[in-house]
Amino acid sequence: MNILGISGGVSFGNQDGSAALLVDGKLIAAAEEERFVGIKFANGHLPRSAIAYVLREANLTMADVDTIVFAGSTYIEIADVLKRFLVAQFGHAPNIKLVDHHEAHAASSYYGWGAKESLVVTWDNSGDGKCTTIWSGSQGKMTLLHEYRRPNSLGLFYGAVTQYLGFMRDSDEYKVMGMAAYGQPIYDFDPILEVTSDGYHFHSDFIQGIVPGRPQPTKFIGLFDEFPLAVPRRLPTDPFTETHFNVAASAQAQLERACVTLVRHWLAKTGHRRVCFAGGVALNCLMNQKIREMDGVDEIFVPPVCSDAGLALGAAYLEAIAQGEQISPLGHAYWGPSFSSAEIKRVLDRAGARYRVSRNAAEDAASIIEQGKILGWFQGRLEYGPRALGCRSILANPRVADMKDIINMRVKFREEYRPLAPAILHERGSEFFDNYTDSPYMTQTFRTKGNLAEIAPAVVHADGTARLQSVHASTNPRFAELIHELQKKIDLPITLNTSLNAYNDPMACSPHQALRTFFTTGMDALILEEFVLEK
Ligand SMILES: [Fe+2]
Repeated sequence: MNILGISGGVSFGNQDGSAALLVDGKLIAAAEEERFVGIKFANGHLPRSAIAYVLREANLTMADVDTIVFAGSTYIEIADVLKRFLVAQFGHAPNIKLVDHHEAHAASSYYGWGAKESLVVTWDNSGDGKCTTIWSGSQGKMTLLHEYRRPNSLGLFYGAVTQYLGFMRDSDEYKVMGMAAYGQPIYDFDPILEVTSDGYHFHSDFIQGIVPGRPQPTKFIGLFDEFPLAVPRRLPTDPFTETHFNVAASAQAQLERACVTLVRHWLAKTGHRRVCFAGGVALNCLMNQKIREMDGVDEIFVPPVCSDAGLALGAAYLEAIAQGEQISPLGHAYWGPSFSSAEIKRVLDRAGARYRVSRNAAEDAASIIEQGKILGWFQGRLEYGPRALGCRSILANPRVADMKDIINMRVKFREEYRPLAPAILHERGSEFFDNYTDSPYMTQTFRTKGNLAEIAPAVVHADGTARLQSVHASTNPRFAELIHELQKKIDLPITLNTSLNAYNDPMACSPHQALRTFFTTGMDALILEEFVLEK
């Protein structure tokens, strides 16, 4: 069957629209709408362009789709909205089914991992009235064990701290996580996020919009009249003080305590030794590390798309299972569009760009990186998920001490607390990282070993951790070849890797977007397939 999963919506707060297409249980294509429309998170968008793309990739039209599955069972009149949208955009509306937000999150992780016997935990701000759900995944089936309903939410808690520290909630949470390494967890967050014997309870009374009669909060003004903490709120233009870093460290530590307690409780109850996650809170890679390192945990899985963009895939999986289909595990994140050499050449020629054709793009890339230059690397199919995993990446030499600041200043136009991350050949991972396990999607941090922090300072955080990507020749041969070539030159099987975008843009999808990033930032070189551009 041809099953099309979609996420997104038409209201404020419905972000991360995406589309994923399964044909007879096999994923053919998946992509986020933001990549096509060029607006990060594509708030309030249904995934028109992403749907058009996944159908094109499979050589199908809307008339060939058996069922469209939308992740969101309580959205007001959504089935009618979808019907009108599909008819207007595609001339036809197939059978539409609605599935629960958190069940779709859970399915994206459990079936994406290959339906291993495991505990399945989803945690986010909220979706369909739920904020955390716990499932037992066994013999290809998920059984719901427990759910936390809104406003009892870890995502709301972390979002509140994010906004309190002067950032935008539902997008800047990673900045708080980055700040945590520079602070001390000296503030007691237990009165706000109480850690209980089996998990947590979020005391949310202070948040506007939660208590009846108080206005809905915006993302720009106070989320609360008074945060129950003796620290004044930071406004976006205020300088950072030690206090702010301590608040971040305290909130991060409390989140970790709550999550570890919850997982420990449900592992004991079910006897599982594996855990998989999804939902926006699973983007917290420090928390994922803490859970991976727990006694009683053999293995964890965090898919490449934890956010609501992953709901499209999870929704499609649920329908495939309902239809009795066998599902293939995800395997990798390269499910978006690719562009042929002829297409790229056309774009370059039309733009009047000067370029040369490389005989060995990996070797050329390694030479450019060795020289301390910033390289855009555009190859193959776009990543599904927020992380560039070697197909739409910016790469640089991890040995150059100030490379993080150079990239943040010249390309990303941002001040950041997190360092940029390393991509390392999987087979060499345990030489450089403690308790190394395969981490292909950059969703977990690891403690570095030996003197890596000194020899590759650009990719190690202040707390001695790194959010690495394990690179496999089997799933991304060109990226693996590049790192092999780089190893010959810098004596490390590691490249610095960050996403191919500037400031607040979504990651580049097309050659046009890559060129725009190249010519409007301080990048030194760009390699699109075999075409090499240098400034
Ligand atoms: Fe969600």
